[in-house]
Amino acid sequence: MPDLGEVASYIPELGNINPNKFGVHLTTIDDKAYCFGDSDEKFSIQSIAKVLSLTLAYKLEGGNLWKRVGVEPSGTAFNSLVQLESNKGIPRNPLINAGALVISDVLISLLKAPKKEFLQFVRGIANNPKIDYSPKIVKSEKSTGYRNAALVNLMKSYGNIKNDIEEVLDFYFHLCSIELTCQELSKTFLFLADYGVNPYTNERIISISKSKRINAIMQLCGFYDEAGEFSFKVGLPGKSGVGGGIVAIHPNKYSIAIWSPKINEYGNSNKGMKFLETFTSRTESSIF
Ligand code: DON
Repeated sequence: MPDLGEVASYIPELGNINPNKFGVHLTTIDDKAYCFGDSDEKFSIQSIAKVLSLTLAYKLEGGNLWKRVGVEPSGTAFNSLVQLESNKGIPRNPLINAGALVISDVLISLLKAPKKEFLQFVRGIANNPKIDYSPKIVKSEKSTGYRNAALVNLMKSYGNIKNDIEEVLDFYFHLCSIELTCQELSKTFLFLADYGVNPYTNERIISISKSKRINAIMQLCGFYDEAGEFSFKVGLPGKSGVGGGIVAIHPNKYSIAIWSPKINEYGNSNKGMKFLETFTSRTESSIF
């Protein structure tokens, strides 16, 4: 399979990653696991974490969330400013950077110790107390995060950011800096294959209806202006990150995580997408 694309270098730390890494881990809801390659090596999950912050904000805030952020695919780049002005500071969806910044703002308003409580939430979902932020990645993102600063400032001018801009950016950069292995990532997302229930503790994390809607948002918005292509070729709800990770879930069956750092022009792992296309085609296991 052709290994096209480049490692993301606009976040300087990500530019240091070995481009030839490749790992896959699949976890089934009845706790069977299959892995390949560098599946036990940690990588920066980046935008994949936006699904987890959305989950916590939606759990706490319910349907009110949709007054602050839409649920429509953007058809533009993950860090685009274009639609924000015509949409008066309301991002098209929670998975583009603008939307994730609004979700960060919502969580800062709702939580007493936002970074600590968010991390606890992720650790609980993943059944893994060792999950952590990477201070090195946070620092690196802060050093070049001009577009995110522009997005948050523009939204603040429309009144859709309530907290201090620096605090919102700091929280957002922290959530993007979480590091997981493919094994940990596939396990962390298993609750979305299990209709909102944590399969390790049987505790309900979110309602069936909310879990359905988060999967719908991943299906339509998880790959930005390549979301149609991902749906067309892979046929699963999923989410990518510029660290080269992709996670996808098949409701009632499995969660699969892939890591291959070379990303395409849309910010999605090139090999990760190709692998998933081949995987769901050969196993005939898309949701469609
Ligand atoms: O804010 C950024 O640009 C990065 N922290 C996250 C972007 C990202 O992962 C886009 N996904 N494919």
